[in-house]
Amino acid sequence: MDQEPPFGETYKTLLHNSSLGEPKDENPLIVEECDLPLIDLSQLNAERDKCIKQITQAAREWGFFQVVNHGISQKVLKILKDEQTKVFHLPFQKKIEDNFLNLSANSYRWGNSKATFLRHVPWSEALHLSLADISRMDECKSTLRSTIEAFVTVAASLAQSLAEILSQILGIKSTYFQENCPPNTSYLRLNRYPPCPFPSKAFGLMPHTDSSFLTILYQDHVGGLQLMKDGKWFRVKPNPQALVINIGDLFQALSNDVFKSIKHRVVSSEEVERFSVAYFYCPSSDAVIQSCCSTKRLLPAVYKHFSFREYQQQVRKDVEATGDKVGLTRFLL
Ligand code: OGA
Ligand code: NI
Repeated sequence: MDQEPPFGETYKTLLHNSSLGEPKDENPLIVEECDLPLIDLSQLNAERDKCIKQITQAAREWGFFQVVNHGISQKVLKILKDEQTKVFHLPFQKKIEDNFLNLSANSYRWGNSKATFLRHVPWSEALHLSLADISRMDECKSTLRSTIEAFVTVAASLAQSLAEILSQILGIKSTYFQENCPPNTSYLRLNRYPPCPFPSKAFGLMPHTDSSFLTILYQDHVGGLQLMKDGKWFRVKPNPQALVINIGDLFQALSNDVFKSIKHRVVSSEEVERFSVAYFYCPSSDAVIQSCCSTKRLLPAVYKHFSFREYQQQVRKDVEATGDKVGLTRFLL
């Protein structure tokens, strides 16, 4: 099909050599199902303290949870998925055109040209959008644009509320996020995972942590998202009513390891394609992330302070050198 990126052809050699020297510690077959904590955000009105406790506990114990009554209507989610499907079903040659949808260069991504192992090739394609890009998006895709805008508006305020709630027990200034995360510094990523003929050899998305404060993910009904807890991989059962929230590296650093940025990955289906949308709540480049020392845990800071720019530069450098990011351990004190 001419919509598909040429995975098979491009990674022919890696596929052929896939048993040679591939990292073996990430066996996708040993996986259990887990029930993520499910939090009803409508309780923030009636039983605020109880709800805040649930959110904080889930962020500490899991680094991952799901929320319902999050404010994004099922209608918006449905239209977004339909529009996303249409865009990714355009011919591959169109998707790699310079001015695709009038987006900045490098917005459309697929595979990993630097990979030396099949394990480092994401068997997926994505539109990686800065929020500034969205307003410049092609007029002829106006339904996609307005639906993305509807999603992002609610996601932005949800991200800020959750971040403020989580920062309460850390003793962080309540205006911290307002000051450091102005509109337009976050990112949106539309993901498509085509059916993968070798799901045990190539990931839909390799194990990674997110570089955000937190991430809001909407996944369709197909499933494939897995997270690592206590050294084991767990499947997240899809819940089309819910959004998945996960703590990112910046919150782990800010919270001095109280909240954990958990490794996660996507294992693709052999038969069906899968879609997801991720909103990465990020600060401006010059925002400084400094480990707070919670009043409840008078522990010394674990990480040096660093700007988001420094963090992104380090990640880019490591990915270029090794195909994989090193992440927060680069900034340990
Ligand atoms: C991501 C991510 C998971 C998914 O885009 O960072 O982890 O289910 N996505 O698509
Ligand atoms: Ni992720």
